[in-house]
Formats: sequence, C-alpha cells, structure tokens
Amino acid sequence: MNLSLDKIKTLDKSFNYLISPEISEFKSFSPKLKIGVLASGKGTNFQELINLSEKGELDIDIKVLITNKDDAGCIKRAESVKIPHKIIKGKEFSQIELFELEIINTLINYDVELVVLAGWMKIFTPFFINRFKNKIINIHPSLLPAFKGGSAIKDSILNGSKITGCSVHFVEEEVDSGSLIMQAALSILKEDNIETLTKKIQILEHKILPHSISHAGFIIRSNFRENY
Ligand code: GAR
Repeated sequence: MNLSLDKIKTLDKSFNYLISPEISEFKSFSPKLKIGVLASGKGTNFQELINLSEKGELDIDIKVLITNKDDAGCIKRAESVKIPHKIIKGKEFSQIELFELEIINTLINYDVELVVLAGWMKIFTPFFINRFKNKIINIHPSLLPAFKGGSAIKDSILNGSKITGCSVHFVEEEVDSGSLIMQAALSILKEDNIETLTKKIQILEHKILPHSISHAGFIIRSNFRENY
C-alpha cells in the first residue's frame, strides 16, 4: 500500500509536513536484517525501531546497541527488551582508531549487516567508514546539506529558516554528507523554539528512519545476491 502525501499529512494534525520519497511498504527480509544501532542520547529513534520490530512490521534483528555515554537513555531501552549493549567511550583509548576498532570488532562479532547511527554524536574517521562502506546510515535533524553538525535545530532557528526537517543518508568520509535516502520537511513557525521544533522533527525522524533502514537493507541484500 502506498500512502499518498495527503494521507501522510493527516497522520499528525498538529503540523503539516512532506516526506520524500513517499512512504511505501517495508521490504520483507528473511532472515531478518541484522542491524547494529549506535546512539549517544535518549534513544527515541532506537525505541521506534524496537517497537516496529516487536510488532513484526519491520523485519530487523537489532543485534546490539553501542553507546559512548554511560548515562545515555538508550541503554535502559536496550535493557528493557534484552538487546545486548556495549558502552565504548573514546576517552578510554589512546588513539581514535583503537576506539573505532573496538566498535568495528563488536559489530563484526554480532554479524551486523547494516550500521544505523541513530543520534550518534561522535565523528568517525575514514578508517571506520571504509570498513563498512555503503553499510552505514545516519539520521540528521536538518534538510541536508543545510545545517550540518551538532546543533542543526538551533542553527536553523537562528538562521531564520522558514522550512527545516530531517534527513537519512549513507555515511561517507565528509561529515553529514553522502547520498540521501529520505527526507522530511516541515515549516518553522514564529512560535517554534528548539524544544517544539525538536519534538516535531523527531516525529518525522521516527517515520523516515525505519523506511530508510528498509531501503538500505534492500540494497545491501541485493548487492550480496549479485556478488555470490
Ligand atoms: C536525533 O534528533 C538525531 O537526528 C540527532 O540526534 C537525535 C537523537 O535523538 N542526530 C544528530 O544530531 C547527528 N548529527 P534520540 O536519541 O531521541 O533518537
């Protein structure tokens, strides 16, 4: 079933938005797509993936959560559904590559096919990115290429932007770059502030991240079949 844009706009009455490409059904994966989630914060995007997986709507197997913060909210979410988690902190390693190697080894041990950066707030070097080339996706709270970096929502307000949104893209060496998979746009209203805009953007993130995972997983599985 393809939802038309008009239908999508009425899913949440508090604001209008546009998602492109249009939302279509999730692809089926058998066996389920094995993903590793990297997150540094509350983990609301991670939670949405847990929910869709538990409802059987998205064929993913969340093999591991990796975080770089002791007190990240995503840890409790993983514990509550018994998803393995690992805290790997940059400051505990003498070199960034050793930190990244620890993450790489964890993802390999869990046999992860797709790496999902869902609020991961640390920049990876080419060493990490090239190890999982075309197998890492990132969600970012702006309409890329506008407002890259760690304060995208604040920057869009300070800039006086009238429209903003969120993007999911494949991760390449340059920060917040790489080919776009899906974007969602919404108006910034006069009365919006960082808090209200963050809430609205996250509603849209929870829609586009799962569909982007489905799309990326389909590409990864198709390439795998072609090469073997
Ligand atoms: C999300 O809004 C995501 O776009 C942002 O972190 C938030 C995590 O929220 N990511 C970045 O800013 C990456 N540059 P969550 O922990 O509730 O999923």
